[in-house]
Amino acid sequence: MSNETFKPLRIGILGAANIARLFITSLNGSAKVDVCAVASRDANKAAAFAKENGIAQSFGSYEAMLADATIEAIYNPQPNNLHAEWTIKAANAGKHVLCEKPFAANSAETKLMFDAAAANNVYVVEAYPYRAQPQTIKLAELLREGAIGKVQLIQASFGFPLPVSGNIRWDPLLAGGALMDAGSYPVSLVRMIAGERPTRVHAMARFTDRSVDSTLIGSIDFPSGLLAQISCSFGTARHRHAVIVGDAGSIETTFYNDTSDALPPHIVIKRGIALDAPREIIKLEPAQGFRVQGEAFYDLVRNGWASWPGATPAETVDIMLTIDALAASARDGNVVAIAR
Ligand SMILES: NC(=O)c1ccc[n+]([C@@H]2O[C@H](COP(=O)([O-])OP(=O)(O)OC[C@H]3O[C@@H](n4cnc5c(N)ncnc54)[C@H](OP(=O)(O)O)[C@@H]3O)[C@@H](O)[C@H]2O)c1
Repeated sequence: MSNETFKPLRIGILGAANIARLFITSLNGSAKVDVCAVASRDANKAAAFAKENGIAQSFGSYEAMLADATIEAIYNPQPNNLHAEWTIKAANAGKHVLCEKPFAANSAETKLMFDAAAANNVYVVEAYPYRAQPQTIKLAELLREGAIGKVQLIQASFGFPLPVSGNIRWDPLLAGGALMDAGSYPVSLVRMIAGERPTRVHAMARFTDRSVDSTLIGSIDFPSGLLAQISCSFGTARHRHAVIVGDAGSIETTFYNDTSDALPPHIVIKRGIALDAPREIIKLEPAQGFRVQGEAFYDLVRNGWASWPGATPAETVDIMLTIDALAASARDGNVVAIAR
């Protein structure tokens, strides 16, 4: 792209959320993305957040920011139950939207969000920063090349300790819970690797006295024959890793949002079926997930889908269908089919 046509993407943040601080610092100094505004339900909160985080403009209502024609795109870190409402309003205002995971409260909302994107000719995508990591891009490449043969089994897990507090993740009215918050990550990884919609799931969970799942495990069945297990928890030591086993080898990997010298991104691959087949450690460049994702969002908006490494709308639809089915299965104990 020539310098004359180069224009950074002007992004406004919808809500003075905690995660927005990391979004801002990660994109600080980016030539592609200008995080230029924040809106809050409270004008004083918006102004204080803007000052503290070096944001040029603040708005005392979400509507006011959506009405500003100079803002091209929105980062939506609302509580999960509000993702659909504000993503649809942003799309109807002609803004592209990078919406936090999980994309919506359920799959029915997901459909309405993509309908709004299509009706307004804007890009609306789900935020999974790990997807833009060189590590994840390499993982996808290895699997595409058949480095471990046909993938038969995946175990993917994400958990961390979350104190019982006023956090939105413990609130059933805000679509909280371990599956929605942490579990959406392994579900998204499994869907990325499978490349297709699952047929059915079975799950078990522990629930709080407000009926919020605090730990959940689930089995996921795919048409290709692949079987996957995911787990997620608000009550474990921090972990985020996956084991992927094919008929000709296996891979062990993490899928962190942010990698660094302290959390180095590498993939351990064993090519061959023997227990003692040689293991290779593939080392990748560390990256701040929100930085590489934000810049990939710029590439998406300016250059189209071919430059987006993240979840496509088809993947996001399947992720939400799978989450809906896992949640239903964990509640009633039955195997739950996923509609084709
Ligand atoms: N991709 C990732 O790795 C990642 C990491 C963390 C979080 N997230 C996602 O980001 C979203 C926000 O998480 P967070 O931890 O940053 O949340 P948070 O700090 O609680 O912020 C949520 C924001 O939503 C606004 N809001 C509107 N209605 C609200 C209500 N009824 N209750 C509470 N807040 C309300 C508030 O903004 P105002 O008061 O300014 O209007 C609040 O600051 C979630 O969807 C979460 O899953 C993703």
